[in-house]
Amino acid sequence: MIDQIVIEGILGAYKYDAVNLLQILLNVQSVEAENYISEEVATYIAHRVHVPLSRVYEVVTYYSVLSHKPQGKYIIQICNTTVCKLNGFNEVLEWFKETLKVDVGETTSDGLFTLKLTSCIGACDVSPAVKIGHKVYGHIDEAKVQRIIDALRGYAQ
Ligand code: FES
Repeated sequence: MIDQIVIEGILGAYKYDAVNLLQILLNVQSVEAENYISEEVATYIAHRVHVPLSRVYEVVTYYSVLSHKPQGKYIIQICNTTVCKLNGFNEVLEWFKETLKVDVGETTSDGLFTLKLTSCIGACDVSPAVKIGHKVYGHIDEAKVQRIIDALRGYAQ
């Protein structure tokens, strides 16, 4: 069941304007219990901003941070664009996969972490880099992966 009051507040902040569809979806997803855009929510938003449901799904499927499936509390986006690829993307990916025991696109069994890939996050100067929520982490090495995960697990308790 969707929280219409919360969604209406977000829609109002963006003037019910389809031009702001990405920002609307990002904000709505961030307040949804399982961090995703359900079919019910997608249908509601499409109706309220007067676009076809297919347009909402185009945006949801184009941006890696958005999802039409339940996601973890923390979405770990690993940059796989050129500079990060040259600076250790493959190792970073393996460290996160080993630490979390999930593959790309999967969510940990405790529901805390979803692992995703993303294009450049504008942190090339500190690559290899990952983004979790609004925070960017650079110069990722194996020890840092463990520290990040431990810290986030600590916050979640
Ligand atoms: S290429 Fe990874 S942050 Fe720019």
